[in-house]
This record gives sequence, structure tokens and C-alpha cells, in this order.
Amino acid sequence: MIRKAQFVVSNTDPAKCPKPDRAEIAFIGRSNVGKSSLINMLTGVKELAKTSQRPGKTQLINHFLIDDRWFLVDLPGYGFAKVSRDTKDKWEKMISSYLTGRPNLCGVFVLIDSRLEPQRIDLEFVNWCGEEGVPFVIVFTKADKQSKTQTDKNVKAFLKKMEDIFGDLPDYFVTSAEKGSGKEEVSAFLDELVSE
Ligand code: GTP
Ligand code: MG
Repeated sequence: MIRKAQFVVSNTDPAKCPKPDRAEIAFIGRSNVGKSSLINMLTGVKELAKTSQRPGKTQLINHFLIDDRWFLVDLPGYGFAKVSRDTKDKWEKMISSYLTGRPNLCGVFVLIDSRLEPQRIDLEFVNWCGEEGVPFVIVFTKADKQSKTQTDKNVKAFLKKMEDIFGDLPDYFVTSAEKGSGKEEVSAFLDELVSE
């Protein structure tokens, strides 16, 4: 479990991120999928990462120092339709150069909305991670929003697609930032990842 969480810095330029002298985990996923909310749930600090009902809230690379030991990073979402082509290109470039160039990145949490059937944009993103050798796990979000049966169905369908692409299953978690579910499992996994 995370005991202490502090905001460090926000950046647009991956080159200006804090010195990469400790383990780092980043959260990514479609705009509005619940990245910032999950970070707040896991750290137990309600407004550590800024959240909003409107997609496109997080626009920078945000570093948080966890337990004085490792960095947790909140990223802008991909696939947000309502920003200009220019802005979208800029964000995508920022995110991809961060993900491929950060030497201390030990894992990326790719968040997937458990309410939806597999979305092409998410599959393209995980495929890209595979191609670039970016190590990732899947975190399904917003499990409180529908029945467990519906969640299970969407999770299963997404995992099947992953199996088709990669030939095996990634690690995955099912969470609700609203209800706190999945917190123990994800926290234990984070502990392990940053201790390696
Ligand atoms: P961007 O920064 O815009 O890319 O979004 P984000 O992925 O950081 O999403 P954010 O955490 O801001 O959450 C988006 C909306 O979804 C907010 O209104 C949250 O309250 C809501 N939300 C996030 N997680 C959950 C969840 O597990 N359950 C429910 N019911 N709502 C959630
Ligand atoms: Mg956000």
C-alpha cells in the first residue's frame, strides 16, 4: 500500500522530467477512462491528480513521488475527439517520446473502460506498446458502473483480442476508483514492480 504521495512537477517536454534515478510507473489510456481517479484511489489522496467529468483534463506529464522512493506518472489521455488536430499530434508525440525514451520506466498501466466492448484505439495502443517494447499491464476501470456480468463480458472480450495479437494474456486488474475495488491487488503489484 502507498503511504505517502507528493506532487513533484508537470512537464510538456519529456526531456525536462525529473532525473530518472528511481523506478517509475506511468498511467495511460483514453481521455476520461479514469487515470487520475485511479491514482487518487491508490494513493488515498483525494485531489492529488486533477480529475474531471470532461475528457482532456490532464494535459501534461505529471510526476508524483511515492513513499519517497518511486515515481508515479499521470499522463494525458489519447483519443480525445474534441481537441484540434494540432493539439492531438502534440500530445501523441509527447506521450510516445516519453514512453519510449524514459530509461527508468518499469511499467505502464494501460487503462481500459470496462463498460465498453474492445475499442480499436485501445487495441492499436497496446499493439504499439508491444512493437516498441514498452512493458504494460491492463487495468479495467469503472467496474461499478454496470453489472458484474457485463464487466466480465467486456473484460473477457478484450483479453481475447489481446491473446489474438500477442499469443498470450497480459497481467490485468479490474478496478473501481469509486468503490475502491482492486486496490489491494494493484497495490501489491505496484510494490513488487518498483522493488525489482
Ligand atoms: P483525462 O485526464 O481527461 O484523460 O481523464 P482521466 O482518464 O484522468 O479520467 P478522470 O480520472 O479525470 O475521470 C473521468 C471521469 O470518470 C470523472 O468524472 C470521474 O469521477 C469518473 N470516474 C473515474 N473512475 C471512475 C470509477 O471507477 N467509477 C465511476 N463511477 N466513475 C469514475
Ligand atoms: Mg487525467
